Amino acid sequence: MAKHVGSEGLDGRFFEVSLHTFAPNRPLPCDVYIIVAEKLTRLRVAGDTFSSERLKSLHRHEVRQLYLPVEQKQAFKEFLWDLATNVTVDRGHRVAAVTEATLLQTEELHSSRELRPAVEQTIKMLEKFGPLCASQVESIGELLAPIAQGGATQYRHAANTALFAMILAKKLYPDDSAKIWQAGMAGLLHDLGERKLPEAMKREPQNMTREEWENFKRHPQYSLEYRNELPEVPADVWKAISEHHEFHDGSGFPRGLGGDEISPLGRILIVCDHFDTLTRDPSGKAALPPLEAIMMMETVHPDRFDPKVLGPFSASVCCLRRHLAASHESQSKAELEKAVG
Ligand SMILES: [Fe+2]
Ligand SMILES: [Fe+2]
Repeated sequence: MAKHVGSEGLDGRFFEVSLHTFAPNRPLPCDVYIIVAEKLTRLRVAGDTFSSERLKSLHRHEVRQLYLPVEQKQAFKEFLWDLATNVTVDRGHRVAAVTEATLLQTEELHSSRELRPAVEQTIKMLEKFGPLCASQVESIGELLAPIAQGGATQYRHAANTALFAMILAKKLYPDDSAKIWQAGMAGLLHDLGERKLPEAMKREPQNMTREEWENFKRHPQYSLEYRNELPEVPADVWKAISEHHEFHDGSGFPRGLGGDEISPLGRILIVCDHFDTLTRDPSGKAALPPLEAIMMMETVHPDRFDPKVLGPFSASVCCLRRHLAASHESQSKAELEKAVG
């Protein structure tokens, strides 16, 4: 089995990509490496393809990640966005490309020393591809299997929240492409204010003292301190970010807003952030299975969420079983079912 070396790759020279992202018989935009006996070995050069049999054999050998040179990351991202919107590619690989491309962009956004150029580039990509990709994905349920297959990274929560928010915005506002890419941007940046919290607190959120918890509750407002630094981010996105822990019944934080006091984009973000938090523990691994998380949101604290938003979200997650039944053949169905619970 290939060794997992972490999202930064080896010495920052390579980055990892989930195997399920690669579609058969598509010319690769860059060289692809595999780890054999703890050594990186080149598997394909740019322009080569993977046959369907070769991909199946890698899956059979439990290879989960392949590695690409960092200097070819931009080319690979563009390749993924094209794959995600190419109707000649099968649905399973298109949806996998949407999730992987969003994760790569999220990693870049949150690991960049210079936030502003990364945000500018993200806005350009989301404006161009966000609404298109949201139309390619039928439901949030369809996203959950490739997300689970892709493994956990510290950026997964922001990437998932952005993906869910774009699909939900597309369902609620089908003709409003600005609302769709802005939902994606709000998802990617929603926890930006956590950068202002002490590192120890972020590492062990379960052990917070009362004082630390009071500080944590201010992170949606800390995000607003980046407003001047990032003038390209629209005011509606900042507003939604500042509202992402408020609840419909007024029981949230930091301001205890409720009902119509919360913006439409904020209401989308609250549901998506909450769902992803319930389905992942702090290390990014799966916690509650998706259908249990939805049941909890609908039955334990139903007043926390705007029913006009939670209803369509829930219907979109509950398509999960249908998508598992139709999952593409290169992945083991039993394996996917295990991954998403
Ligand atoms: Fe948060
Ligand atoms: Fe969050």
